[in-house]
Amino acid sequence: MGPMLLLSLSLPLPASHPSQVFNAKTAELLSHHQVEIRQSFPKEGWVEQDPKEILQSVYDCMERTCEKLGQLHIDVSHIKAVGVTNQRETTLVWDKETGEPLYNAIDAALLGLCSRECLTHCVLAVPVVWLDLRTQSTVERLINKTPGKSKNHLKHKTGLPISTYFSAVKLRWLMDNVEEVAEAVLTHRAMFGTVDSWLIWCLTGGKSGGVHVTDVTNASRTMLFNIHTLDWDPELCRCYFGTTCRMTSHCIITLNCLGDQSAALVGQMCFQDGQAKNTYGTGCFLLRNTGVEPVMSDHGLLTTIAYKLGKDAPAYYALEGSVAIAGAVVRWLKDNMGIIRSSSEIEKLAGEVGSSYGCYFVPAFSGLYAPYWEPSARGIICGLTQFTNRSHLAFAALEAVCFQTREILDAMNQDYGVPLSQLQVDGGMTSNRLLMQLQADILCVPVVKPSMPETTALGAAMAAGAAEGVGVWSLAPGDLAAVPTERYQPQINTEESEFRYARWKKAVQKAMNWETTEPVSNGNGTVD
Ligand SMILES: *[C@@H]1O[C@H](CO)[C@@H](O)[C@H](O)[C@H]1NC(C)=O
Ligand SMILES: *[C@@H]1O[C@H](CO)[C@@H](O)[C@H](O)[C@H]1NC(C)=O
Ligand SMILES: *[C@@H]1O[C@H](CO)[C@@H](O)[C@H](O)[C@H]1NC(C)=O
Repeated sequence: MGPMLLLSLSLPLPASHPSQVFNAKTAELLSHHQVEIRQSFPKEGWVEQDPKEILQSVYDCMERTCEKLGQLHIDVSHIKAVGVTNQRETTLVWDKETGEPLYNAIDAALLGLCSRECLTHCVLAVPVVWLDLRTQSTVERLINKTPGKSKNHLKHKTGLPISTYFSAVKLRWLMDNVEEVAEAVLTHRAMFGTVDSWLIWCLTGGKSGGVHVTDVTNASRTMLFNIHTLDWDPELCRCYFGTTCRMTSHCIITLNCLGDQSAALVGQMCFQDGQAKNTYGTGCFLLRNTGVEPVMSDHGLLTTIAYKLGKDAPAYYALEGSVAIAGAVVRWLKDNMGIIRSSSEIEKLAGEVGSSYGCYFVPAFSGLYAPYWEPSARGIICGLTQFTNRSHLAFAALEAVCFQTREILDAMNQDYGVPLSQLQVDGGMTSNRLLMQLQADILCVPVVKPSMPETTALGAAMAAGAAEGVGVWSLAPGDLAAVPTERYQPQINTEESEFRYARWKKAVQKAMNWETTEPVSNGNGTVD
């Protein structure tokens, strides 16, 4: 018998490893392939990705990953399951009737990998990525409709504040602003889902019987899902869409699909209450496992479903906080300011100084998320002196990532009642050792990084392996060989750490209440 392998697909994919094959027993990464996907910014505050390009790149990546397996003389028939992980709130709507039929090109995987023809039928898919701000006015309108004009009006059911971040608001925006979507909704042709739902629909046949499903971790981020009953909620539906919503509970599955952050939690093996992980990507995502009871936050965090591995398994809940801009600030220094040529240069540049020399950089480019949820904030760099140079700015940018993480952890400690004893980390930025050391210094607890970097993909593969009928893993502790780790211990004293953190908070106050909904001059006397 050959090795049991799991294929993991990660979506959407700016600069990640979208396709990877793991050995089911050892978690060893055998083969992977990566492509860059373009994000487009059609207007200020809008972020889009072309779904056809996403799908095309998934096919390319799967093909290349399998080719590489071939070079290792491993047969693709050893792949026993496909896990999919995605950014949970990215929203797609597509037309179920305009599709071309699919055929199974390779029967290696459980899902059946489909042909490129599947590309042609996702014509109506309009993606809205989570960084997108266009739905702000929709949010304000929805909040004004609630009895207390409160963004927390539905939180007792959803665990979430009403925000641009979650899919229902994006869907409402699409229905109000994109004629094709409005028409497809009226004629019952519109299908709505996150990227994974769309991909699974394509992979399982598209218009010819493709399955339209989601799992509880994704569903819990739509704002339409009741996290206590674990079902779609008619009242929530009515709130966003009037009475037109026809959701059926059979489209919830609990199989091999996890939201990306949940997948990272599983991949980090945070199976015990109180354990937490932070993923450093474009943004930061901090999740803390609170066990089988949901903990409602008094500090602006979200309550979400962490994972539910199997139909009869209990749902595990998590407190979650997100930082909108983390890796994106490095990209901004590179692309917009030109002070570094590649993202990896930032470590060396910041390392020249070892301090920001009193410079603080609050990268609130799209407002501030947890724990503030303040859409009116905008970015600010303060504490500049004649002495400040590029190195200090680079250092301040890295520190900003760490301070934002600390704010969320402080909120979690208060909501959960037990201080965190260490933070598990993953994601692209964790290869920056200066950043990891800074994070330990600013948190005053050790930071632990698995030496296998792609824990999100591993988590999705693990969940797929644990699904009924696959039987690769039971996900019992000790089922997997322990993954080796790197540890960063705090190296500065608590007083210094607290001083820097207090200054940061002062800088955050200065970034608040900047943007107003007044019309703005476009710079040559006219008004937009
Ligand atoms: C929910 O998200 C996960 C990963 O984020 C994905 O694998 C899963 O397929 C999604 N929902 C569905 C369609 O089951
Ligand atoms: C910035 O200033 C510090 C201290 O004067 C110096 O060590 C560092 O090399 C400078 N960085 C750049 C990029 O000029
Ligand atoms: C200035 O105004 C003209 C039209 O009056 C417009 O075409 C142009 O794009 C504006 N410039 C900027 C910088 O917005």
